[in-house]
Amino acid sequence: MQTWLVTGGAGFIGANFVLAARRARLARIVNLDLLTYAGHLENLDGLKGDPDHVFVHGDIGDEMVVAQLLAEHHPQALVNFAAESHVDRSILGPQAFIQTNVVGTHTLLAAARIYWQGLDTGAQAAFRFLHVSTDEVYGTLGPRDPAFTEEHQYQPNSPYAASKAAADHLVRAYHHTYGLPTLTTNCSNNYGPYQHPEKLIPLMIQNARAGKPLPVYGDGQQVRDWLYVEDHCSAIRTVLAKGKPGETYNIGGNAERPNLTIVDTLCRLLDARFPAQAPHARLITHVADRPGHDRRYAINAAKIKRELGWEPAMTFEQGIERTVQWYLDNDKWSQAVSNPQHQEWLNRNYQQQGRSA
Ligand code: NAD
Ligand code: DAU
Repeated sequence: MQTWLVTGGAGFIGANFVLAARRARLARIVNLDLLTYAGHLENLDGLKGDPDHVFVHGDIGDEMVVAQLLAEHHPQALVNFAAESHVDRSILGPQAFIQTNVVGTHTLLAAARIYWQGLDTGAQAAFRFLHVSTDEVYGTLGPRDPAFTEEHQYQPNSPYAASKAAADHLVRAYHHTYGLPTLTTNCSNNYGPYQHPEKLIPLMIQNARAGKPLPVYGDGQQVRDWLYVEDHCSAIRTVLAKGKPGETYNIGGNAERPNLTIVDTLCRLLDARFPAQAPHARLITHVADRPGHDRRYAINAAKIKRELGWEPAMTFEQGIERTVQWYLDNDKWSQAVSNPQHQEWLNRNYQQQGRSA
């Protein structure tokens, strides 16, 4: 069995990836995560007692830790999910984004390069460094612009997007300069189990259940392309297995929706389950917009379909139904992540900025 060093595997997408990989016995996983506010060991409860999942509490920016893990576990792949991931937090405090997303990714690249150079020729050819990135590096689209292809110019607009763009450039440079077999994936908005309730969909479900306002930024007509998280994980596995080193692959859900439509959909799903509280849409509250808010993202995922045969398995309608049910069934998880630190964030991002929530 292969060994993969996965970073950020206690976060939303990383945990889904690790759980699915272990369910399918695809690889032994060494999971390096700093357990920031966004990392939760509860996400990995399903792996308790699994000897082929090794959790390591540490920082991707810690050169010694990363070098030691590579030397000790001899992974065939490194998959980098670790990041500061929330745009609103990057607006209020960009420094952590530079540290983890740029400096941390560079530390991983530098350590991986040394490790990779020490492998024999066959192991060198088989090794992969897969960097998980975002569609936000491409900037924003007008309503009729064609969707982002891999050739679209990088035009990041938020500190988060800029930090991810910088990391993507470093990954590219390590392939071009040193020959490190890198892969980069640029994915659209994910949703599904274990997503931190700072993000749109879980926040809306949580607030709606509590009878609190549903804070829609600006006019709510900003468009995102939504992908169920398990489909993102299957795309990453596909790129890892079949992607060509040095290439980048866009991943998307073919599900562009304005934010207000997402919130309306969630309200309808909750109305059906809790008719006494209907209509939940009465809680929708338009609040001050996000500064520099990108208007539209859309992914052209033709390359990954054509070259690697991947496409999403789940429609948005199936995925959102499943997601709402997951949050309702996992109230204990929601309580655990809605800790005082999270309440402090809600206060900072909404109350203190005159957005009611
Ligand atoms: P998340 O915020 O839920 O999880 C991030 C994880 O990284 C957490 O477990 C956190 O503890 C860990 N982490 C943070 N800093 C670290 C450090 N210095 N060292 C080690 N671990 C650290 O994020 P997510 O939504 O799961 O996103 C995962 C990756 O996917 C990110 O790179 C993000 O840019 C990218 N991405 C996310 C989406 C999305 O919609 N969520 C879409 C496309 C790409
Ligand atoms: O596009 C991929 C990106 O998707 C990832 O790279 C990021 O890590 C991930 O966080 C996500 O970024 P967004 O900014 O699109 O996600 P978020 O859930 O924060 O917001 C989705 C949309 O909803 C966005 O247009 C802002 C809006 N929004 C968000 C919140 C939290 C609201 O209207 N109200 C809110 O309270």
